[in-house]
Amino acid sequence: MQGHGSCLKLYLAFALLLLQNVKGGEVGSSDKDANATGTCIERERQALLAFKRGLVDEYNSLSSWSSESHKQDCCRWIGVSCNNQIQLDLEGYLSKGKMISPKLIELQHLQHLDLGCIDFNGSQIPDFIGSLTNLRYLNLFWGNFGGQIPSQIGNLTQLQYLHLGGNQFNVENLNWLTGLSSLTDLDLSHVNLSNMFDWPEAVNKLPKLRHLDLGDCSLPPPPPRIHSTPFSNINSSTSLTHLNLRDNHLTSSIFLWLSNYTTASLVDLNLSENNLTGLIPDVIGNMSSLANLVLSHNQIEGGNPNSFARLCSLQFLEIPGNRLSGQLSKFVQLLPTCAQNSLETLDLSHNDLAGSLTNLTTFSSLQILSVNNNQLTGS
Ligand SMILES: *[C@@H]1O[C@H](CO)[C@@H](O)[C@H](O)[C@H]1NC(C)=O
Ligand SMILES: *[C@@H]1O[C@H](CO)[C@@H](O)[C@H](O)[C@H]1NC(C)=O
Ligand SMILES: *[C@@H]1O[C@H](CO)[C@@H](O)[C@H](O)[C@H]1NC(C)=O
Ligand SMILES: *[C@@H]1O[C@H](CO)[C@@H](O)[C@H](O)[C@H]1NC(C)=O
Ligand SMILES: *[C@@H]1O[C@H](CO)[C@@H](O)[C@H](O)[C@H]1NC(C)=O
Ligand SMILES: *[C@@H]1O[C@H](CO)[C@@H](O)[C@H](O)[C@H]1NC(C)=O
Ligand SMILES: *[C@@H]1O[C@H](CO)[C@@H](O)[C@H](O)[C@H]1NC(C)=O
Ligand SMILES: *[C@@H]1O[C@H](CO)[C@@H](O)[C@H](O)[C@H]1NC(C)=O
Ligand SMILES: *[C@@H]1O[C@H](CO)[C@@H](O)[C@H](O)[C@H]1NC(C)=O
Ligand SMILES: *[C@@H]1O[C@H](CO)[C@@H](O)[C@H](O)[C@H]1NC(C)=O
Repeated sequence: MQGHGSCLKLYLAFALLLLQNVKGGEVGSSDKDANATGTCIERERQALLAFKRGLVDEYNSLSSWSSESHKQDCCRWIGVSCNNQIQLDLEGYLSKGKMISPKLIELQHLQHLDLGCIDFNGSQIPDFIGSLTNLRYLNLFWGNFGGQIPSQIGNLTQLQYLHLGGNQFNVENLNWLTGLSSLTDLDLSHVNLSNMFDWPEAVNKLPKLRHLDLGDCSLPPPPPRIHSTPFSNINSSTSLTHLNLRDNHLTSSIFLWLSNYTTASLVDLNLSENNLTGLIPDVIGNMSSLANLVLSHNQIEGGNPNSFARLCSLQFLEIPGNRLSGQLSKFVQLLPTCAQNSLETLDLSHNDLAGSLTNLTTFSSLQILSVNNNQLTGS
């Protein structure tokens, strides 16, 4: 289901292409090639044509990719751009592929490869991907890739953005992550990582990581040994700003891991649909940059006096579907006064909070308040 939403761009682009074909218009007039300023060389053109033979072009979306004389300049081909170096951005133009042609390595300068939402029918990501050492951006999201993630990906030391989510990998280890020292964005959502007990350590070795999405990965909680291992020698992800760990098997031990590595930098934290229990720990209250905190659908019972203490930038606080109990007014008192002008959404619905609706007018930016399905009384 989530795949359909994530690949929406695909369907929109298809609709556009079909419209253009119906009108008999030139497909190659999209803004994707409007900036094509370079001229491609023969070797690159041949490599791209070979690469096209590995794709299934059902709707003739790549009709501009041709050896006809008036289509010689591959920088004008749809999905190709040549700002300094060739970039390939085919997400949205195709829905199926057979293989990623090994001829791709002829494009030695390739920095940007986006094949998102193209179904490669359970095939494996080829090992030679690790030879494209200039890659900065690699998107193979929702590609129906199977087998192992090739360890050669770890050779892509320039890679900044890696999106391998939504695939059917059989992941054996995360050692390959170690080489990705430039990585700022990593998305492995919907990939089964249920046996990757060392995932926190693997992530901690990415010194520049800012965005991490490991949603719906069947992630196990950080194991107890992590709590006793001093990590002072490891380059930790102190740069992390966006962390999405929704829909996993995490327990409250995740808070300990967070406490050492991400307290100052985190802006977005999504821990919804896990197995968090007990009280919201004080470490959350130390995450002074936090704007969005989502703890929906766990078994959290309440907060400590300092659970939110320094969250002066808090905008969205969502804790629906937990076991919050006691008086609503008591819970509201835990909210930081310094966030009175920033808090926009407060969702405490589907809990066991009692008492009557509190006067919240001091939260001057509050736009959405959900307290339904509690034990509230009064008018
Ligand atoms: C093309 O260039 C214009 C301005 O020069 C820019 O706004 C636009 O984003 C560019 N498009 C692509 C696909 O790079
Ligand atoms: C997809 O793979 C299966 C076997 O794994 C094969 O039978 C089928 O022909 C492939 N489909 C395409 C479109 O290549
Ligand atoms: C690429 O990665 C493989 C496996 O991780 C490794 O054996 C090989 O030496 C690497 N090649 C280069 C050029 O770094
Ligand atoms: C994930 O993989 C493990 C085995 O590696 C398997 O037992 C489990 O059922 C898988 N989980 C999902 C959600 O597919
Ligand atoms: C946090 O770091 C300290 C020292 O750097 C270490 O003693 C402690 O075990 C770490 N805690 C966790 C949960 O990793
Ligand atoms: C930490 O990073 C530095 C440079 O970025 C590197 O030299 C060092 O080997 C790294 N240490 C570990 C344990 O990865
Ligand atoms: C958090 O994750 C849930 C799924 O568990 C999702 O519905 C929600 O949109 C996410 N919220 C944010 C702010 O990322
Ligand atoms: C949640 O934790 C409890 C106790 O620690 C355990 O019995 C249960 O299986 C866990 N549920 C999930 C979905 O991980
Ligand atoms: C929160 O930060 C303060 C000041 O830096 C520190 O003394 C305290 O131990 C921190 N609390 C937690 C739970 O990390
Ligand atoms: C709510 O509080 C504000 C200021 O604290 C006050 O002006 C207002 O009259 C109160 N409203 C009610 C219904 O008590």
